[in-house]
Amino acid sequence: MKELFILAVVTVFTLATYYLVEPFAHSKMHKHVESEKFAYADLPALTKKGDANRGKDLVMGAGACTGCHAIKVAGLAAPMDPVATAQSYGVNTPDLSNAGVVYDAKFLAALIKNPAHALKVEHKYDAASGKVHPMAQFGGAGGDLDQEVADMVAYLQSIAVKQDKLTPKMAFETACGRCHAMKYENWTQIGDKPSFKMKKDELAFDIQVIDYQDALTKYMGKLPPDLSMYIRSRGEHYISTFVENPQHLIEGTAMPRVGVTAETAEKVIEHLADAGDTKRVERDEVGKKVMVFIVIFALFAYLWKRSIWKDLH
Ligand code: HEC
Ligand code: HEC
Repeated sequence: MKELFILAVVTVFTLATYYLVEPFAHSKMHKHVESEKFAYADLPALTKKGDANRGKDLVMGAGACTGCHAIKVAGLAAPMDPVATAQSYGVNTPDLSNAGVVYDAKFLAALIKNPAHALKVEHKYDAASGKVHPMAQFGGAGGDLDQEVADMVAYLQSIAVKQDKLTPKMAFETACGRCHAMKYENWTQIGDKPSFKMKKDELAFDIQVIDYQDALTKYMGKLPPDLSMYIRSRGEHYISTFVENPQHLIEGTAMPRVGVTAETAEKVIEHLADAGDTKRVERDEVGKKVMVFIVIFALFAYLWKRSIWKDLH
């Protein structure tokens, strides 16, 4: 009887800590934001059906996208290397090969028309201060603006890989890799760090990374953190809602709303988990086995206790 009472007390306190105290402390330390399911409800829906062929001409021509961005799948290299690009614009421009699958269509259309608005960084680029976002705003090529934008979005979608072929690494590199390094994955903001035979070559590479980071720090106001361990320190829900709308969690932050789809966000988080929590699958497996073991062990302990005490009473 006494044992059962002690067990009940321990159980009650454990459950209270787990379900009441911990979530309370957590909510005080990290603001909880509900997911908006990556709907981007503040942005207007696409009303026109795009034509990928016309979109191609616009992306390569009047849209001027290829003046700043690489489109490797279409055989177009970046006009400048990442360091020179960052020194001109503050940050490298992402390769648009998979933009059509990584980013939400509505978001892409809004971005082409007004980058600072779609990216939610208008607090940094207001007309009054005369500061303009480094990504040029598309003003139209003489026809119907919404149609032209829809055509460009359709072209980007037509060249992108299918959703199921987009790997977590590709999703991360397109959406986050120009700002965030990930040491545990050997990723720097200018690409994968190769293994060098000569120390001299490695140092030359490191200097390029530092030059890039200097330009990026000036652009963002601070160096975006290395994300290797963020899956541990912040957790999945926080990262997901932060990516969806950084301003909700850190007001006035320089990190833009990147505009990824819900599927892409999941892949990015999978990539972060691959880096920072490599043992997660094993751990879940071991956890289940340990629980089974404890239950069986408790049963035997109980039977053993009974058999010993029955002669003594
Ligand atoms: C004058 C150079 C310039 C032109 C022209 C330009 N961009 Fe950009 N673009 C940038 C820069 C710089 C960034 C990165 C901005 C940042 O991360 O703060 C960017 C970012 C992007 C992104 C990623 C946005 C995100 O959510 O992370 C996409 C997609 C994109 N551009 C598409 C386009 C398309 C499509 C066009 C043509 C209509 C275009 N860009 C024209 C400079 C340019
Ligand atoms: C244009 C640059 C840029 C891009 C692209 C970008 N970030 Fe960031 N990120 C930042 C900056 C700057 C900060 C620092 C924000 C601050 O402290 O105000 C940051 C901070 C963060 C943080 C830490 C937030 C915290 O609580 O301290 C996380 C997590 C994060 N980013 C995840 C991502 C993910 C995931 C992506 C891609 C889907 C991404 N970022 C894309 C610039 C960027």
